[in-house]
Amino acid sequence: MYKVLARKYRPTKLDEIIGQDVAVRILKNAILSNKLHHAVLLAGPMGTGKTSTARIIAKSLNCEKGPTIEPCNQCEFCMSISKGNSVDVMEIDGASNRKIDDARALIESVKYPPLKSRYKIYIIDEVHMLTQEAFNAMLKTIEEPPEYVKFIFATTAIEKVPDTILSRCQILNLKRIPEDLIKEKLKMIAKNENVSIDDEALDIIAFASFGSLRVAEGYLDRCISYSTEHLTQEDVSLVVGVTQTKTIETYFECIKNKELNCALNIIKELYKKDVNFEILMQQFIKYLIESNISEEYKAGLLNVYYHTFLDIKSKADPLISVNIATYKAIAMTNLSKISDVIEKIASGEIGGIDVEKSDILTHKYSKEKQYTNNIDKKEDSNAPSNKAKYETKTPSIDIESEIKGSKGLDVILKTFGGKIVSVEKINN
Ligand SMILES: Nc1ncnc2c1ncn2[C@@H]1O[C@H](COP(=O)(O)OP(=O)(O)O)[C@@H](O)[C@H]1O
Ligand SMILES: [Mg+2]
Ligand SMILES: [Zn+2]
Repeated sequence: MYKVLARKYRPTKLDEIIGQDVAVRILKNAILSNKLHHAVLLAGPMGTGKTSTARIIAKSLNCEKGPTIEPCNQCEFCMSISKGNSVDVMEIDGASNRKIDDARALIESVKYPPLKSRYKIYIIDEVHMLTQEAFNAMLKTIEEPPEYVKFIFATTAIEKVPDTILSRCQILNLKRIPEDLIKEKLKMIAKNENVSIDDEALDIIAFASFGSLRVAEGYLDRCISYSTEHLTQEDVSLVVGVTQTKTIETYFECIKNKELNCALNIIKELYKKDVNFEILMQQFIKYLIESNISEEYKAGLLNVYYHTFLDIKSKADPLISVNIATYKAIAMTNLSKISDVIEKIASGEIGGIDVEKSDILTHKYSKEKQYTNNIDKKEDSNAPSNKAKYETKTPSIDIESEIKGSKGLDVILKTFGGKIVSVEKINN
C-alpha cells in the first residue's frame, strides 16, 4: 500500500526534525537533564513539525530506554506511540473536544496514573480551539498536574490561546522551514524513492510550499503520481500550479504600460490553466521585490498584491481578487508623484488652494502620528531663501498626509502607493 510521503518520512527522533534548531536544542537539554516542563506548547504554522515533535517527546519520555533523546522506536512504548494507540499517550483533537465537558473528562482522567508507561501524556492539537470555559476548568490541572502527567499542546494560532494558559506553559516556537532545507529533504526523499527530478523542479516545490514540509511532500506525491518518468520544471509547474517567470514578466510589462486588457487577459488565461493564484501572488511579490522600479511605486504595488495574497489565502475569489489588484496597479501607475503634486499645489495649478510653496513647512504623516520633517519654523522663516521648505521625502504606503502652511493646516493629501489620489483643502 502506498503511504503518503509526509507519513512515511515522519521524523522519529529530535535529530531528524529539520529547521527547528532552537526548539530542538531546548527540548534535548530539558529531556537530558530531566527538567522538561509539565506543560509544553508547540506553536507554529502547519507542516512545520508540531505533531512529529509532540510524538517524539512522548517517545523520549516513555521509551523503555528513556527518558532519552534517542528513543529506540522499537520497544512497545515507542511503537504504540508511532501507531497512535498507546494507552498512556492521549492524542486529543482540540477542535472536536473543545467543550467544558471534554475538559472535565480530561481532568478526571488525569487522576489515574499511567497503566504501563513512565508518564501519562496528553497531546492536545489545535489547543486554541478550546472554549474559554474549557480553558478555565483546566487551569489548575495544567498548573499543578500529578508528577506522572505531561501536557503537550500544539497550535497554529498561539494568539488565540489565553494568557492564563500561556503563562503556565513552556512555549516552543516552530518556524517556517527555510527553502534550502526543504529542498535538501526533498532531494533525499526523491533519491530514496528512486524518483528522478530536476534541481530547478525541486526549487519550485520548495518555493511554493511556503515553509511547510508537509505541503512540499504533498506536492512531491502529486508529481510522482503525475509521471513516472524524469520530472522537469514544466511538469512540476503544471502539477503545483506555478506560473512561468516569463508570463509574470509579460504581466508586469502590461501593468507598467497601462495596458489593462492585456494584463487582464493574462490573468484569465492563467485561471483557465488552473494556476494556483495564492502562489502566483507570492511569485509576483518576490518578482516585484527584485524588480528595478522606484521605491515608492514598488511599495505601493507590494501593498496591493500582498493584500490580494492575504484575501485569497482567506478564501476570497481568486480571479476577482487578482483582477481588482490589476485595476489598482494600473490606476497607481497613472497617478502622479506626491512631490509633483506638492509642486502643483504650490504653483496654484491644483484647484484654488491658497498655499505658497514657501508656506508648506511640515509634511506630516498623520496616520503614523509622526513628523517626517523637523524644520524649526522660526529659524526657517528667518532664513534668507524661503524655498524648498517642504518635505519632499514621499510616503510610500497608503496614508493621509497633512501639509501644514504657516497659518496652520492647509491641505490633506490622500496617497496611495506614494502617489496622490486626492487633495482636500482645509479651511482654517
Ligand atoms: N521540522 C520538520 N522536520 C522534518 N520533517 C517535517 C518537519 N515538519 C514537517 N515535517 C514533515 O511533514 C509531516 C507533517 O508534519 P507534522 O509534524 O504533522 O506538522 P504539523 O503538526 O506542524 O502540522 C511530517 O510527517 C514530516 O514528514
Ligand atoms: Mg499537526
Ligand atoms: Zn523505545
